[in-house]
Amino acid sequence: MAALSAAVVLDGKAVAARVRAEVKVRVQAFERERGRPPGLAVVLVGANPASAVYVRNKRKACEETGIRSMAFDPPSDVSQADLLALIRKLNADPAVDGILVQLPLPVGLDANAIMDGIDPAKDVDGFHPLNTGLLAQKRPHLRPCTPFGVIRLAQEYQIALRGLRATVVGASNIVGRPMALELMLAGATVTVCHTGTRDVQAEVERAEVVVAAIGKPGMVRGAWIREGAAVFDVGINRTAAGNLVGDVEYEAAAQRAGWITPVPGGVGPMTIAMLLSNTVDAAVGARPALAARPAVVAKAAVRANS
Ligand code: GUN
Repeated sequence: MAALSAAVVLDGKAVAARVRAEVKVRVQAFERERGRPPGLAVVLVGANPASAVYVRNKRKACEETGIRSMAFDPPSDVSQADLLALIRKLNADPAVDGILVQLPLPVGLDANAIMDGIDPAKDVDGFHPLNTGLLAQKRPHLRPCTPFGVIRLAQEYQIALRGLRATVVGASNIVGRPMALELMLAGATVTVCHTGTRDVQAEVERAEVVVAAIGKPGMVRGAWIREGAAVFDVGINRTAAGNLVGDVEYEAAAQRAGWITPVPGGVGPMTIAMLLSNTVDAAVGARPALAARPAVVAKAAVRANS
């Protein structure tokens, strides 16, 4: 007889559908008031096949919720100056509420300089240093979509993060670092594993919350998972056989975990749902943290846009 899985499987598809339904209602209200839909500019540079799939899904999700998706697909040999000029044009366009530049960028382009060039008020990825800083200072504005999605998923399943010991495996700007900030904001005690970490296994073994964001299939072993832990698998890896698998050894981990996200159908759909939610936030100008210090923010925005 097959062993029964002990863990509650966190249904990212179902929760994402709920978030998207909320977004749709807000989009309709926005359109009634303003006479136009919220607009999201999605920039895909070059032809990275994985990025093309993600971008297609993002554009499709926009259309389904009534957000106007604007596609910009410069070639992989676009110059830094031309890409920055495009960003400046989008910053200035009143029909564009959100700007997303899909990462990674082709070799030769400076992703940091491009992120710095996006108007922080239109930065629906939450990658501009101003938005990163606001999150670090416990006054989040636009929040990186994947970590924000993990937090929303935990909330929906009433996983109370406050006081829990959390280990994030991976320290990228896109997931690991903002994830650590989100978990701290939620009251967890956070450890981040990175390439300098001596014993990743030991850090995972004592965690009550594990977030795996490494990009290596099955790197977090099932046997490392503490009984009852909440496990969020951000990895999306394609095997030689063509299947999608996460960074966690799923079957074995599910025997020990209290909650676990599947791949696909866990964190992935949440990323897109939170992007849509951020786009409406940007469109309605829900910027409480920015409003608190208008002079400083205005200067930062001018610098970013000039
Ligand atoms: N590449 C991988 N994840 C992301 C994301 O959330 N946003 C962008 N812009 N690029 C990515």
